[in-house]
Amino acid sequence: MKICKTIKETKETVAKWRSEGLSVGLVPTMGYLHEGHLSLIQNAVKNNDRVAVSIFVNPMQFGPDEDFDSYPRDLDRDAALCEKNGVDLIFAPEISEMYPEGFCSYVDMTGLTGGLCGKSRPIHFRGVQTVVNKLFNIFTPDRAYFGEKDAQQLAVIKRMVLDLNMNVSIVGCPIIREADGLAKSSRNSYLSPEERAAAPIINKGMSLGKKMIEDGERNAEKIIKAISDVILSVGITKIDYVSIVDSLTLEPVETIEKDVLCACAVYMGSSARLIDNFSVTV
Ligand code: PAJ
Repeated sequence: MKICKTIKETKETVAKWRSEGLSVGLVPTMGYLHEGHLSLIQNAVKNNDRVAVSIFVNPMQFGPDEDFDSYPRDLDRDAALCEKNGVDLIFAPEISEMYPEGFCSYVDMTGLTGGLCGKSRPIHFRGVQTVVNKLFNIFTPDRAYFGEKDAQQLAVIKRMVLDLNMNVSIVGCPIIREADGLAKSSRNSYLSPEERAAAPIINKGMSLGKKMIEDGERNAEKIIKAISDVILSVGITKIDYVSIVDSLTLEPVETIEKDVLCACAVYMGSSARLIDNFSVTV
């Protein structure tokens, strides 16, 4: 397995693979890998001749008061996990390699990025789209793998690829959870033992909401209230949002008539903002 720090070396490696007629799968990450990331990697290894993982904590997608500085990083551990899971190349650039002096081009979107996480993180998706666009240009992958855990991110990337005629298939992969239901996240490492013990309440609330819809409830407000009541029943949680939106437009719905995404973001104690979601086909 190769670890590339520069775009030049990465492009040369990919060009060599291409000249041999090999297909390329890309798994973009910010590192501190866990089983959620590994499920994407395993899917990529199964369906591509060569697999690259990018590990880059992208400053452009963090707001000024967010956790860019404290975001967990451990390249040695990540490299060992990648090697073990059949990855061919890790791309781990410095910030100056991705954003050299004078950098001033961005990829942005209207509509899809306005609600859910975009409301409290207004510059987040511009940063995600810009870095993912750069990664797509560096790797020209046949397939790129993203988790359904970040449902809005997945919708935004799919739309970007469609709107801008990018030659890459976006593969969405299911949410991987801890045994107690908490969605796996690099940010779970921020949780104190007390917060970690309380955190499964998020999925408990969401599971209740899912069951209500499956049992026929169609009033979004009622479902949101029931989910919120469960999540808030543990004293250390604070809700950023619980929303039920149209799966395609991400616009809030009042009555559930078509496929919907139910998503939430919750603050645990003072340190962590955790997200979760489920989709329902009606
Ligand atoms: P990161 O948070 O490291 O996540 C990398 C990929 O792993 C994303 O597609 C995310 O949805 C997926 N993932 C994370 N936790 C998961 C889980 N529990 N189950 C399934 N998939 C999971 O998302 C980013 O990085 C960045 O925004 C990035 C796309 C790399 C751009 O910087």
